Amino acid sequence: MRLKDKVAIVTGGAHGIGRAIAELFAEEGAAVLIADLDAAAGTALAESVRSAGGRAEFWLTDVGSKEAVAGAVEIAARWTGRIDVLCNNAAYLGEFHGVLDASDEEWDRCLRVQLLGTNNCTRAVLPFMLAQKAGSIVNVVSIQAMVGCPTSVAYTAAKAGLLGFTMSAAYDYGKDNIRVNSLCPGPIQTRISPKPGEAAYEWQCSQTMLGRVGQPREVAQAALFLASDESSFVTGATLAVDGGWTAK
Ligand SMILES: NC(=O)c1ccc[n+]([C@@H]2O[C@H](COP(=O)([O-])OP(=O)(O)OC[C@H]3O[C@@H](n4cnc5c(N)ncnc54)[C@H](O)[C@@H]3O)[C@@H](O)[C@H]2O)c1
Repeated sequence: MRLKDKVAIVTGGAHGIGRAIAELFAEEGAAVLIADLDAAAGTALAESVRSAGGRAEFWLTDVGSKEAVAGAVEIAARWTGRIDVLCNNAAYLGEFHGVLDASDEEWDRCLRVQLLGTNNCTRAVLPFMLAQKAGSIVNVVSIQAMVGCPTSVAYTAAKAGLLGFTMSAAYDYGKDNIRVNSLCPGPIQTRISPKPGEAAYEWQCSQTMLGRVGQPREVAQAALFLASDESSFVTGATLAVDGGWTAK
């Protein structure tokens, strides 16, 4: 029970990596607020956590909207009056193409969800964490912020910006015992990923030292470490969960 009695908000928690994080946090004793655009999947997940004996609520949230984020934080704060953990996981993925093909609209969306969304959520929880003199913020980034990959330039640039956001916030609030870290997944099997048998899937496997893609639960275990007191001296860090891709 590494998150016993803690309150956690997981953005983009209805599917994929965010879902695995929300489930694991709840298993480890946290009350989890799932903040996501997908009401059907988010509500079903919250119900499934509750029927397994955990605590979870869903709040329809576009992280790009300050009003929606404020609503999510208000609901989460009803549990104990605290917000102990924020996991900024929601992202807009964009298209696979380079600078010449990336539209202004795609740039706006990537920046709005990845960067401003993270900023909106962080700003909304900081007053709680400052009052508590404790908190952990886990930003789900990507190895695409660390090494060149064939990808959307807007997605990658926004994710790289998150590394800077993490270090800046970690610097500013370290003295208040608020830790902020970046978690960079490599290829993880979710609904957005290439499927086994596809050329892109085989290529992803070949880029890792372990020769395979990862599972959402393997990212969730790293998020749990960063969220819990086990990482009490870790802040401003970038943790790759990538089967060795970036070390190759
Ligand atoms: N899957 C991978 O291989 C991989 C690799 C590196 C990084 N990541 C990162 O991991 C995170 C999760 O990705 P995933 O693969 O689980 O994707 P996913 O599409 O399965 O899940 C993303 C979730 O975010 C939600 N979401 C999207 N926009 C939102 C918004 N504006 N507000 C609130 N919720 C929103 C979606 O509804 C969905 O539930 C993302 O930050 C992604 O960039 C994934």
